[in-house]
Amino acid sequence: MKMKVVVIGTGHVGLVTCASMAAIGHDVVGVDADREKIEALHAGAMPFHEPSLAELVHEQTGARRLVFTGDAESATRAADVVFICVGTPPKSNGEANLIFVEEAARAVARHAEGRTLIVEKSTVPAGTAARMHRAIRLERGPDPELEVASNPEFLREGLAVADAMEPERILVGAEAPWAFEMLRELYDPLVRAGSRLIETDIATAELAKHACNAFLALKISYANALARVCERAGADVVAVAEVMGADPRIGRAFLDAGLGFGGSCFPKDLQAFGHLATALGYDFPLLREIERLNVEAVDAVLDKVREGLWNLHGKRIALLGLAFKPGTDDIRSSPPLELARRLMEEGARVVGYDPQAMANAKEELPDLGLAQDAYDALEGAHCAILATDWPEFADLDLGRMRGVMAAPLVVDGRNQFDPAVMAEAGFAYYPTGRTPVHPR
Ligand code: UGA
Repeated sequence: MKMKVVVIGTGHVGLVTCASMAAIGHDVVGVDADREKIEALHAGAMPFHEPSLAELVHEQTGARRLVFTGDAESATRAADVVFICVGTPPKSNGEANLIFVEEAARAVARHAEGRTLIVEKSTVPAGTAARMHRAIRLERGPDPELEVASNPEFLREGLAVADAMEPERILVGAEAPWAFEMLRELYDPLVRAGSRLIETDIATAELAKHACNAFLALKISYANALARVCERAGADVVAVAEVMGADPRIGRAFLDAGLGFGGSCFPKDLQAFGHLATALGYDFPLLREIERLNVEAVDAVLDKVREGLWNLHGKRIALLGLAFKPGTDDIRSSPPLELARRLMEEGARVVGYDPQAMANAKEELPDLGLAQDAYDALEGAHCAILATDWPEFADLDLGRMRGVMAAPLVVDGRNQFDPAVMAEAGFAYYPTGRTPVHPR
């Protein structure tokens, strides 16, 4: 059945939620306090790069199933379901700042009419729904027609539309039977198309999201620690990952060693999860170790650059990739940018290129040089670092690359090149967790 859905917050999660909810047939209003953002959305502009999102949003606004407004009050009044997708930025101590979540929940409590389900979708520490519940009761008094549920998202940036339209799992945590019924109805088109709906209590749903992200980050950090050992043992971390991945109990995914993880989720979620565990009286040092290994992954690439270049001062370094991963223009907690910062601190001239993230990178690091394309970045470079695994970098013409560089030195922070091919092409090549090719 068609439902009236309101989405508060039109960031990455919110906008994808707007478009996907409309695409499965609901009437959706996307709300944002940022007037400029709403005006831009009215004009059809997307606030960030996400493949296929603009097309889906245009299709749904064209069909009048999706509208945007700055007016939370009137949107909320008519809603059956209100998704809260506002930001939860980290405080300086790593704890998630939940003021925007609280404000959104209280606003819904003030304006909702009739049976309304408030669904938290922003990644929040376990216990947040209970706090929201208390906040809305304080705002409105007891009201069985207003309930809170948790429905964490599992969207990957760059693949968010596919993840929203064909999710492997849909996780809903609720309490009241009518809340579960509403959520079943809401997601019915996706469940009928094959997605698995998992129903739990609210605290379990909230915690499961942290558990998933921390475990994925653990796999990456494990692969990076293995890379350090492989480098010392003369073993090959890519082959080790293949062997591990052949065991279905382990799985090959997220065992790619490299510069480590970034983005708006893993670093922030790990901190928030650690903070939550401590607040609950449980010390969880494994979470801190995952972060430490992630810092070490950048150090390891920096060491290879030093080994290849000797002194960094005055050397020109081409940084291929600035986004935290391919398929996005997102540079939040981006390992490539952290690397750029540290190279520049040591006096290197860093010239970056990224297919999508240049404007965001420039805003974050104004001293970073920017190039027109990969070859432009490589022109006169004493060293190239492959920092984000955009597929186009793996296809670079090695002869041309060597021809434009001042010295044939490549440090591969994402294991995108074949060491034998690099040796054949005459490069000194430093991969991650694999045997380097030394200058001939
Ligand atoms: C992640 C999760 O994958 C989603 O399931 C989750 O919904 C989302 O966080 C969230 O909490 O919102 P995302 O941040 O988009 O999604 O990025 P990932 O594709 O998971 O990649 C994270 C980072 O890990 C990237 O920097 C990537 O380069 C790095 N990575 C990934 C590795 O270094 N090695 C790997 O093997 C895999």
